[in-house]
Amino acid sequence: MSIKVLSGKVFLVVTGASRGIGKQLAISIGSVLEKGSHMLLLATNLNALKETAKNIPASVSVDTVSADLAKTTKDKLHDIIMQSLKDQTLHQFDRVVVIHNVGSLGPMNQCTNDLTDINMWHDYYDLNVFVPAILNGVIMQIFNEKTNTEKLIINITSLYGIKPGKYLSYYCSGKAAREMFFKVFAVENPEINVLNYSPGPVETDMYYEICNDLADKQVKTEFKDMLTKKTVLTCEQTVNRLLTVLKEQKYKSGDHVDYYDEL
Ligand SMILES: NC(=O)c1ccc[n+]([C@@H]2O[C@H](COP(=O)([O-])OP(=O)(O)OC[C@H]3O[C@@H](n4cnc5c(N)ncnc54)[C@H](OP(=O)(O)O)[C@@H]3O)[C@@H](O)[C@H]2O)c1
Repeated sequence: MSIKVLSGKVFLVVTGASRGIGKQLAISIGSVLEKGSHMLLLATNLNALKETAKNIPASVSVDTVSADLAKTTKDKLHDIIMQSLKDQTLHQFDRVVVIHNVGSLGPMNQCTNDLTDINMWHDYYDLNVFVPAILNGVIMQIFNEKTNTEKLIINITSLYGIKPGKYLSYYCSGKAAREMFFKVFAVENPEINVLNYSPGPVETDMYYEICNDLADKQVKTEFKDMLTKKTVLTCEQTVNRLLTVLKEQKYKSGDHVDYYDEL
């Protein structure tokens, strides 16, 4: 599939690329990149990242870095990126693509009135909102206007970023905050292509966490039913849909596009 917004020599960063949707994003997008492109895959599990990298064509160089994205800093992120780019000049890239995929659910058995522990809020927002915002800023500062590089930024969001779910305050509010951050980023940077992609219900570890731990019994049953009826999506299905969305370019920068949307 030829996709204009992924064409040319690309520097691609994918967070949470060790498993689930992020792994498939790295493999599928890595497979359509032009020779000489370079990828940086981040997550905590280095061995699993290396497994992801094995599925990417040899014409694309891949760096795998273990980083706890809940506990990192601006300087550490800057070092990781500069280290990954050490053999390349910034000008050799036509395009930078960043996929903010990392995500976690947080506890799913407490209602809003019980969420009074500030440290729990900090931990959740560090990984799901603050670090993605900081990582994005660091990359934008490295590839500033002087580098004249096209940019595509994809935030993996959720239906839960626009629809409340019981016992999912951390997840829903975090997804909403992160999505709005990228909407603001889009209006401030009209030359940058920004997409908030909501992947639909996808069979990953996160999906099983909901099936096992969500305190809302009705929704938990609905999630389990999708497994039994095989209506839950595969990682491949949702990433293929994303590739079609990217190819067709019918969205406006900053839009929330869901797997099931008819664009
Ligand atoms: N699955 C769904 O149905 C669904 C639906 C809507 C939206 N989404 C969104 O899609 C994205 C991917 O979800 P998924 O289902 O693929 O999740 P997943 O299977 O739980 O994978 C999460 C990824 O994030 C990484 N990660 C978690 N904590 C990390 C940390 N502290 N530092 C660095 N990396 C960390 C994990 O790698 P390590 O374990 O190696 O650190 C893993 O690669 C998330 O943003 C999620 O909210 C998923």
